[in-house]
Amino acid sequence: MTIKTFSLVSLGASLGLAALLATGSAQAAGDAHSAPQPERQAWTFAGPFGHYDRAQLQRGFQVYREVCANCHSLKRIAFRNLSEAGGPEFSEAQVKALAAEYKIKDGPNDAGDMFERPGRASDRFPAPFANPEAARAALGAIPPDFSLLAKARSYSRGFPLFLIDALPIPGGAYQEHGPDYIVALLKGYSKTDDPNYNDYFPGNKIAMAQPVSDGAVDYTDGSPKTLIQYARDVSAFMMWAAEPKLEQRKKTGFNVMAFLLVFAGLLYYTKKRVWADVVH
Ligand code: HEC
Repeated sequence: MTIKTFSLVSLGASLGLAALLATGSAQAAGDAHSAPQPERQAWTFAGPFGHYDRAQLQRGFQVYREVCANCHSLKRIAFRNLSEAGGPEFSEAQVKALAAEYKIKDGPNDAGDMFERPGRASDRFPAPFANPEAARAALGAIPPDFSLLAKARSYSRGFPLFLIDALPIPGGAYQEHGPDYIVALLKGYSKTDDPNYNDYFPGNKIAMAQPVSDGAVDYTDGSPKTLIQYARDVSAFMMWAAEPKLEQRKKTGFNVMAFLLVFAGLLYYTKKRVWADVVH
């Protein structure tokens, strides 16, 4: 094949691929239901070198604690997790003081009674409602637990984007659908006459009215007190809650890939050495 025909063939192939991609996204747009696609946010924890922004996790925790925790539980997280490496990394003293502000149900004592005591670092976050039924009776729907929510929510990006999302290429390796959706959800209350209408909630009817708005939480680190900032911070915090070992996972993954590359090189030269004297 001459260079000219080769370049013609590859041009044809790329045009074909481009056409395929275009029809794919057109189809995705066509069969999409009323919910628009959440906007893709820039996250520090995205990509192979992803890591959490400590200050952001601390602010996100503040939003959770002051606003969302009135309705949403966080059952799998203990106070002490907040001081562990790879998370918001509050100091142990801060965590102890924080835990002590909560009342934890414990018991039974020697008399067989349950009692309340101040929280300890090893306690898990107490839930705002005694049980899901009580939450539904008060709110009209059960607020889902936050522990895994950021990873339990996703949305369809359609063919071919879902393929590209899986590939380790620029623009690919996309795993942040959950936090992107939560940001969009918190900003998605577009109808002033219907507090339960949300652009991004599937079906648009959500039992949760807009939980935060500009100025609702008093940040002390100078970050803007805006809805978008709260939404991003609390989503990052929820991502950490759902995957506290993300940083470790990404570091291990990188080391494994680096090892495999070096090992492949060694194997190649070993093979050359071993077969060097064989006539072929
Ligand atoms: C007044 C109670 C209340 C507060 C405060 C609250 N929520 Fe909710 N939330 C709910 C209820 C109830 C639902 C269930 C909605 C439904 O199923 O229609 C819900 C659902 C959700 C969902 C799941 C949506 C889905 O796709 O299923 C997310 C995410 C969420 N809330 C985030 C937050 C965040 C973040 C905060 C704090 C900034 C917050 N909520 C504060 C009551 C609350």
